[in-house]
Amino acid sequence: MNLDSARLLVVGAGLMGAGIAQVAAQAGHEVALFDTRDGAAEAAKAKLAATLDGLVAKGKLTAEAVAATLARISPVATLQPADLVIEAIVENLDVKRALFAELEALLPDEAVIATNTSSISVTALARGMQRPERLVGMHFFNPVPLMKLVEVVSGLGTAPEVAQAVFDLAARWGKTPVHARSTPGFIVNRIARPYYAEALLLLQDRVAKPEVIDACLRAAGFRMGPCELMDLIGHDTNFAVTNSVFAANFFDRRFTPSLVQQELVDAGFLGRKSGRGFYRYPEGAPALAAPLPLDPPRALRLVVHGRGALAERLHAQWPEAERQVDSDWIGLHADGLDLRLTDGRCARDINAHTAVFDLPLRPGGDLAYAGPVAAEPWLAALGYTPREVLDVPGLVVARTIAMLINEAADAVQQGVCDEAGANAAMKLGVNYPAGPFEWLARWDRRAVVALLDRLDQHHRGERYRVSPYLR
Ligand code: NAI
Repeated sequence: MNLDSARLLVVGAGLMGAGIAQVAAQAGHEVALFDTRDGAAEAAKAKLAATLDGLVAKGKLTAEAVAATLARISPVATLQPADLVIEAIVENLDVKRALFAELEALLPDEAVIATNTSSISVTALARGMQRPERLVGMHFFNPVPLMKLVEVVSGLGTAPEVAQAVFDLAARWGKTPVHARSTPGFIVNRIARPYYAEALLLLQDRVAKPEVIDACLRAAGFRMGPCELMDLIGHDTNFAVTNSVFAANFFDRRFTPSLVQQELVDAGFLGRKSGRGFYRYPEGAPALAAPLPLDPPRALRLVVHGRGALAERLHAQWPEAERQVDSDWIGLHADGLDLRLTDGRCARDINAHTAVFDLPLRPGGDLAYAGPVAAEPWLAALGYTPREVLDVPGLVVARTIAMLINEAADAVQQGVCDEAGANAAMKLGVNYPAGPFEWLARWDRRAVVALLDRLDQHHRGERYRVSPYLR
């Protein structure tokens, strides 16, 4: 099956449908655009024309290319036969099913129907269709022309050749398609849950303020911290997705939504759009205190513990230090102080002269630590801005990354996607600085499992259950 020269019908001319029509037309397809709302398809085309004219003015597109693209998009007043229909209407199972019944009555047998649903099971949507094998998920991300990822979602009845044809088509459109099995949240919305959930749990347990959590995760390479990101997405939307993933997994407590977020929604503190979420807008997050100038720390005896990249960095910073490469921890001993990379234990559970610090994914920036404040000058000398947080397992970044890896591992275990698919999806769908299995490759599988097991012992619930795939 080949959709290279398919005639398209895009149903739903809203935010997503308009973007999909644009991308398809730019790739050379004839696109009919239909919407039940009077004038919506025409309005979407007019808006697109204005956007593309703007790009001509900036010299990014030629007037000829824009004219050709626009000429390929035809707003239509009724559903039309096509080789490929992409549905981007309201997110409602019954309404989508009714549309598919109408479409099947007028489409040729071999026509493919793709749904852009972000949360409804493709398997369930196909139920009742005459040809369920022709329904496939084609999950674009907003804004469609800019976001590279397309999750190609197969339901139980989807024909493999249909999924492959849509996959190849998306690739031809310059997208990066990834195969996914239809399971709650597909790939991105599922694997991303812990990014929000860990922050919300840290807030519930009063471990750190939102601006500290955000700063630490930004320093780890994320474009936005989880709190500012939830404020941007809107707490109502983010909470609804969390609830739907939770319910769809038969209330597996791993996905339990947060009371902290429930409270924000109850208050109407929905984030940027309502002027207040974790932060007030337009101000946004309060600035963190600038680091105090600290004298370079001194010690009579320095020992670098453990091996790996971090131990090498410590040794490069303090070449005079002794080495204990076979140590069971990674970090620095400086006279009366042990400064350890978190292994999931609280500093106080190790001993009174230990501070634990967070996973330093990048050089420099804000880094969480817990334990004696004498740790600060050492972290500062290493180039970090130390941020003291409550002494909890896995601090901020380590537990977040470990949980993202764990969720991705479960997704792979359950055949939702493969490792490469999970990496691509998280980098392109939500702009993560690395894919979960790339973080795992740079970290240490045993260390991740140990950290999660300690979180599990600490919290006693299902949230930190280690994926069999990872273990
Ligand atoms: P939207 O509200 O901007 O557009 C939906 C359009 O569909 C409206 O113009 C509406 O008039 C039209 N419509 C509703 N029922 C219809 C029907 N029976 N026949 C024809 N047209 C109908 O919504 P948006 O954001 O474009 O979402 C559309 C779909 O894409 C939903 O399934 C949504 O879950 C999914 N999606 C949305 C994303 C987003 O970030 N907004 C991201 C990925 C998927």
